[in-house]
Amino acid sequence: MTTKDTSLSLVAYDPTFLELSWNWLNDSEIKKMTHTPDFTRDEQHAWFAGLASKTDYKIWGLQYNGKPIGVCGLKKITGTDAEYWGYIGEKQYWGIGLGSAILQLIESEAAKAGLYSVWLSVIPENIRAIRLYRKNGYTEENQQGDLLIMRKRI
Ligand SMILES: CC(C)(COP(=O)(O)OP(=O)(O)OC[C@H]1O[C@@H](n2cnc3c(N)ncnc32)[C@H](O)[C@@H]1OP(=O)(O)O)[C@@H](O)C(=O)NCCC(=O)NCCS
Repeated sequence: MTTKDTSLSLVAYDPTFLELSWNWLNDSEIKKMTHTPDFTRDEQHAWFAGLASKTDYKIWGLQYNGKPIGVCGLKKITGTDAEYWGYIGEKQYWGIGLGSAILQLIESEAAKAGLYSVWLSVIPENIRAIRLYRKNGYTEENQQGDLLIMRKRI
């Protein structure tokens, strides 16, 4: 891990991240790449209020050098696996290698939770993300509708 990567950390997803996420997920490119549906402010706040009671879902803010830059998490958590999802919302931090650091942090959380594998879904047009996942040991499992499913044993 480089010095740069050690400055990236998972932190509590708090109202600051909630507000930033509104902007990040309404950016047309991020919205498409993360296959995010339309949502309203009210729906977003209702979703946030429901987070504490979810047992199969974990969410973190991504902080880089003290600055909130994105969000990631694990969903559909079973006794053995979970689906990773994530995005860097601040685009100036794309393409500098932080994606691998995010995956390492998430895989470490998944291992701590006793999971054996992590899977994800990605649109085939998201070349940057697919390169990142392949480089980090994720392999194609199948195609579900418009989404490519990839998985890694951890
Ligand atoms: C996907 C994401 C997490 C990747 O993280 P990142 O730190 O930007 O990725 P990296 O810098 O490690 O780059 C990953 C690979 O894509 C390549 N890449 C960078 N920009 C690219 C571009 N415009 N087109 C194609 N490949 C590109 C990089 O060269 C690297 O491959 P390499 O290591 O073989 O050279 C981040 O870009 C992001 O959050 N994007 C928006 C939301 C998103 O797509 N989320 C994932 C949904 S499944």
